[in-house]
Amino acid sequence: MRLAYVVGTRPNIVKMAPVLRALRRRLPAAEHVLIHTGQHYDRELSDVFFDDLGLPAPDHELGVGSGGHSEQVARTLDGVGALLARSRFDVLVVGGDVNSTLGAALAAAQARVPLAHVESGLRSYDRSMPEELNRALTDQLSDVLFVHSASAVDNLVREGIAPERVVFAGNTMIDTLVAMDGRIGAAGAPARLGVPAGEYLLVTLHRPALVDGPQLDAVMAELARLDMPVVFPVHPRTRRRLGAGAPAGVRLLDPLGYADFLSLQLGSAGVLTDSGGVQEETTFLGIPCFTLRANTERPVTVEHGTNTILGLDPGRIAGIPALLAARDGSRPGPPPRWDGGASDRVAGELAARLGGRRPPGA
Ligand code: UD1
Ligand code: UDP
Repeated sequence: MRLAYVVGTRPNIVKMAPVLRALRRRLPAAEHVLIHTGQHYDRELSDVFFDDLGLPAPDHELGVGSGGHSEQVARTLDGVGALLARSRFDVLVVGGDVNSTLGAALAAAQARVPLAHVESGLRSYDRSMPEELNRALTDQLSDVLFVHSASAVDNLVREGIAPERVVFAGNTMIDTLVAMDGRIGAAGAPARLGVPAGEYLLVTLHRPALVDGPQLDAVMAELARLDMPVVFPVHPRTRRRLGAGAPAGVRLLDPLGYADFLSLQLGSAGVLTDSGGVQEETTFLGIPCFTLRANTERPVTVEHGTNTILGLDPGRIAGIPALLAARDGSRPGPPPRWDGGASDRVAGELAARLGGRRPPGA
């Protein structure tokens, strides 16, 4: 039996690492092939995660690199398609909603290789984001769809996906976080950076709607006016616009490794973000999260977690200290099946389907 797994970007690696590990454990005699598209290629966006998560180097690196939506999807389709044409696979596993995800899904569909999608069913209903197209199209092509929240099941069923193809496995990104356990505190990034625990705002921003236009200058001006330390590990997309200069009180850093970044989340008073993964991790950690976007495809983080949607409005940043002060300090428990066991459930279900007890798409 041969299984292929595709990653391309930082969050893909975090979501896929425990799935690969669980399937290796569940199917030790099978061949497990890891494909890295190379959508992210800087050490801080890729290799660092392989090191932190103890992942073996990819078996294939496609060198897709940077480019527009169509270029990245097309290069991935080309590269993954060539691999699938060369040897037979029983299933291709993709995760998330990035351009690499859709490119690989198209390759699997064309090669008629059964496709499994991890983190399926999320919808913002905002088609201006490439991720929304990537999610909806990947889901339509998938034979088995692993979801992490109940609303994702409803979204898929509304789109005509047969319920027997949908599996509520839970959140594999949280599996990775849970597995880090003792290493988060030990990473000690707040102390190393000299920022006072429980008092600073951690910031991550990388969505084009926010960082590719004039909104970014407004964000920086608002951050500089805040009466609390600000720590901002900067995604390369955002760095391209910001350059090296930072206003007083705002600490700009290069992107951080996973253990360091988790320790900064855990030590913060709150997080300002437009990241999907960070909305989820703060929900699990019980850290207040302020999402600088018009919407979220992850409503569970608002309903069941600590996430507040501020809108795409830098002016709302000024209100964060008051929002923090108004919190009652209670920490909601994690959403159902965000428990460290999601990847085992994915592996169990896939192994059963591959073993013939249930066909991949039934
Ligand atoms: C991509 C995903 C986004 C995800 C994010 C995770 C899509 C459409 N977007 O956005 O959903 O949230 O990854 O971080 O797939 N760059 C580097 N070094 C790298 C990679 C990128 O410098 O290793 C720079 C390049 O200038 C590139 C820009 O960042 O043009 C954007 O990279 P890209 O992969 O296109 O999109 P992200 O913004 O990273
Ligand atoms: N992350 C990290 N270092 C950073 C910023 C983010 O390790 O400097 C991790 C974060 O903990 C999460 C993932 O990267 O696991 C989220 O990636 P990103 O925000 O780039 O993408 P998204 O989740 O929005 O697709």
